[in-house]
Amino acid sequence: MEKLRLGVLGSGKGSNYRAIQEAILHGELAAEARLVISDVEGAGILDAARRYAVRAEYVAPGRFRTKLEPEAEERVVNLLREAGVELVVLAGYMRMIKEPLLEAYPGRIINIHPSLLPAFPGLDAWKQALAAGVAETGCTVHYVDRGMDTGPIIAQRRVPVLPGDTAETLHARIQVAEHEVYPEVVRRIAVGPMR
Ligand code: GRF
Repeated sequence: MEKLRLGVLGSGKGSNYRAIQEAILHGELAAEARLVISDVEGAGILDAARRYAVRAEYVAPGRFRTKLEPEAEERVVNLLREAGVELVVLAGYMRMIKEPLLEAYPGRIINIHPSLLPAFPGLDAWKQALAAGVAETGCTVHYVDRGMDTGPIIAQRRVPVLPGDTAETLHARIQVAEHEVYPEVVRRIAVGPMR
């Protein structure tokens, strides 16, 4: 079977990317990460990519805080296209996706978010859940559209909020669920009708 060619975008430590890469290495996922792109020069996700001998590219974001400058996003699109990427995987990518990328990859960009969307979109969703006093939160994999954490939901995992939880313990529990569900969703797409 042809491997699904992935392009991964991330701004942080890259644990979700590593979970996907490990699933590939263990033969559980017929995919190949063609390149990893970050808007943060020293991001752990770029080091992780290099350790897996995957191409790692830093793209300077430009003058905005919440999105890439249009020229920077065009550069991302060019890098993805040149690498033959079929599916764009956002893994801890902290900026909004705008037209150049949305138009280049319609219905082919996915994201993981640390809450049961539509609850708690936006930043630090696990802290929002803690502050709201809910008994249960989780994570969501969804297609990316113009909104913030609003695209069609593909899969969710539930995670309990336990007595005595701190932001750190709750996020860590959510991340365990993320590392299961994200490779699983990519696997489903790799064997699904998109191919
Ligand atoms: C995850 O909690 C993810 O849901 C959110 O950002 C975090 C990224 O973590 N979008 P990592 O960089 O994959 O470790």
